[in-house]
Amino acid sequence: MHKTNTTSFLKWAGGKRRLVTSLDKLTPTSVDRYFEPFLGSGAFFFHLVQSRKQFKAYLSDSNPHLINTYREVRDNVNELIEILMDHQIGYHKNGEKYYYSVRDNQSNKTNTESAAKFIFLNKTCYNGLYRVNKIGNFNVPHGRYFNPKICNKEKLID
Ligand SMILES: C[S@@+](CC[C@H](N)C(=O)[O-])C[C@H]1O[C@@H](n2cnc3c(N)ncnc32)[C@H](O)[C@@H]1O
Repeated sequence: MHKTNTTSFLKWAGGKRRLVTSLDKLTPTSVDRYFEPFLGSGAFFFHLVQSRKQFKAYLSDSNPHLINTYREVRDNVNELIEILMDHQIGYHKNGEKYYYSVRDNQSNKTNTESAAKFIFLNKTCYNGLYRVNKIGNFNVPHGRYFNPKICNKEKLID
């Protein structure tokens, strides 16, 4: 991985952001390979990217929608940003109504559209929670945020 100013672009319940300093003390100063099987928002991984020399990272998570999102950020960030900008405009016009229309739209999507939906819901749902019902549909209610930054270009591009 290359050194950047990146921090996580997602909120995540149980994220290790507050534990980063303690975990850092337990981690070698020079990292050759890093295995993160429970990636979530990658708080500790992004900390290592900033604080260690270049290393090889093996990142995984059982949530396929999360993994798709990371892949799209890596491979199709410009298209992803365009779709997120549209969500940002739609949300700022219609807030809660727009949130539920996106959340409950189950039509087929490209991987990039799915990743944009994932980030949009993460930024606007209650507490950034991720929860699905028995048939796999995201069912977290709308959160209460004033002017959430749905498309954070800098974080996505870094
Ligand atoms: C609390 S988050 C991880 C936080 C992250 N390591 C950090 O640095 O902030 C836990 C993640 O583990 C994933 N997970 C839970 N059970 C899993 C399993 N059996 N195999 C792989 N991932 C799993 C969840 O999808 C979730 O994204």
